[in-house]
Amino acid sequence: MCGIVGYIGSEQAAPILLEGLEKLEYRGYDSAGIAVINNGEINARKAKGRLSVLKEKTNSGKDVPGVTGIGHTRWATHGEPSDVNSHPHLSNSGRFAVVHNGIIENYMALKNRLISKGFEFTSETDTEVIAHLFEYYYKGDIMDAMIKVIDRVEGSYALGVLCSDYPDSFIAVRKASPLIVGLGSGENFIASDVTAILKHTRDIYYIEDNEIVVLTKDDVKVYNIDKEEVEKEVSTVDWDVSAAEKGGYEHFMIKEIEEQPKAIRATISPRLKDGRIVLDDVSLTKDDIKGLRKIFIVACGSAYHVGVVGKYIIEKMCRIPVETVIASEFRYCDPIVTKDDLVIVISQSGETADSLEALKVAKDHGARVLSIVNVVGSAIANASDDVIYTWAGPEIAVATTKAYSTQLTVMYMLSIYMADKLSTITSGQYKQYIDDLEKLPELVAETLKNKDQIAYLASKFYNCHSIFFIGRNLDYAVSLEGSLKLKEISYIHSEAYAAGELKHGTISLIEDGTLVIALATGKELFDKTVSNIKEVTTRGAVVLGLTTEEHSMTGIADYTITIPAANPMFLPSLSVIPLQLFGYYVAAQKGCDIDKPRNLAKSVTVE
Ligand code: M6R
Repeated sequence: MCGIVGYIGSEQAAPILLEGLEKLEYRGYDSAGIAVINNGEINARKAKGRLSVLKEKTNSGKDVPGVTGIGHTRWATHGEPSDVNSHPHLSNSGRFAVVHNGIIENYMALKNRLISKGFEFTSETDTEVIAHLFEYYYKGDIMDAMIKVIDRVEGSYALGVLCSDYPDSFIAVRKASPLIVGLGSGENFIASDVTAILKHTRDIYYIEDNEIVVLTKDDVKVYNIDKEEVEKEVSTVDWDVSAAEKGGYEHFMIKEIEEQPKAIRATISPRLKDGRIVLDDVSLTKDDIKGLRKIFIVACGSAYHVGVVGKYIIEKMCRIPVETVIASEFRYCDPIVTKDDLVIVISQSGETADSLEALKVAKDHGARVLSIVNVVGSAIANASDDVIYTWAGPEIAVATTKAYSTQLTVMYMLSIYMADKLSTITSGQYKQYIDDLEKLPELVAETLKNKDQIAYLASKFYNCHSIFFIGRNLDYAVSLEGSLKLKEISYIHSEAYAAGELKHGTISLIEDGTLVIALATGKELFDKTVSNIKEVTTRGAVVLGLTTEEHSMTGIADYTITIPAANPMFLPSLSVIPLQLFGYYVAAQKGCDIDKPRNLAKSVTVE
């Protein structure tokens, strides 16, 4: 939700902090701030608005001296975006400065108590209590104060804390919010995400819940809450720095759309050996799979849409009942989950609060949890019995594209893998699926070639007030994603409907000129969807049909987008491409802020 960074070394800290925050802006972009220690005093600078405002205010950091500092980019939860609500928050004496990513759930009770003890609050944030708690508990030892503070606060946090008594170090901790440490030479870093520090180092520590990190310029020590030092393993990030740069593209979103063939290949290749799917990362045995009573797929947003595809394909291939549930609903619906069930949690960031909590509910019921995650070492990955990483590389645009596509790919592989173990497919079918899976990156690349037509269609329809997406089965699942892509970045109202369901109420919204995007890629249900198209054209809709080269929509739709023919099970990977592009080009025509749409943030770490 928010992004934090910290630096200690010999260079001027502020420019490095601002540079790091630039990479984290996708996590929140309504205000930003930095605090740097200089001559034993903490100097904090904050600004409402994009990071560029803070940069301007500080002359790109050059006006803020000091070699030890912390920074923050915010997505407001408690208190509107404003200078005063921006982080870092300072204690009353100015001895402590705090940046925080997460939510302090018991902040009201703590705030009232601190007020009764004479502390003065200047902001409406939950975070400010932490700065004052440090002041309250500090008796000359920062580590002792940290242990007391984290004992008092409830909720989620990644914290970076400066204390003016410790000009040559700073301290950090996490619980249920991401935090990594970057290990440099004569300099060290903290960040919410590796992209912020990749320019400086590839050697990192993944920090676990309740681990406390003390950083100096030459050393990093990690402790547990009993003040015992913890041995950490250094992980080396193998991403190219350019993976987190726009690299000549106008937006991260279009770059990430283009990267999909490569990303899908990276998901498939390490798991295909001698024509067989090898899921080394999964400990689920043949007997475990045979013993499954039911599968739940739990996720939010686009990841949930992957789950909707998953339900169709797992049920079809494995004949195991599958229920796909929105994570925020799963948490509170008292789900009938048992120890004989598999719960698949899908999340790009691995830190979505609702998905993480749903995972915990599943575990409380004794179910086995397998997660499909992109960010290595994230909270969801850590809390799962098995993790399948999507290896999509960093995804920066708020609107997901390559993460969605790689999640789909994992879903296909898992379905084929389980169907094989269950013998619900023949060896011939298995071989065919593998052959077709290997062709997928090429087919996606082929589908991406149709950009000009999609850009043209976007230029025709970008003024629409409302757009409907319809489809059946897998086409319906992809419609959900197409509709979300369009609305989240272009702000055009849009709904996705199961094509056969429209006439049960929603069809009353169709009037002369309403755009309906109709997906009819599946062979079996093509004619059925055509009937639904007729229902809307009769009522004045303009129809943009999306089908494969095996079908023609001449005389059925006003415009047609054609995708390559492929194994029906893998068609979602192709049909989603024009829809991603359509959303992108419509938003571009409207001049929207594509990578950072209003009100949104890349990872949603609040309920
Ligand atoms: O990080 P996650 O995959 O758990 O995020 C889930 C959703 O917040 C995410 O897919 C969201 O819907 C995207 N912005 C859609 O493009």
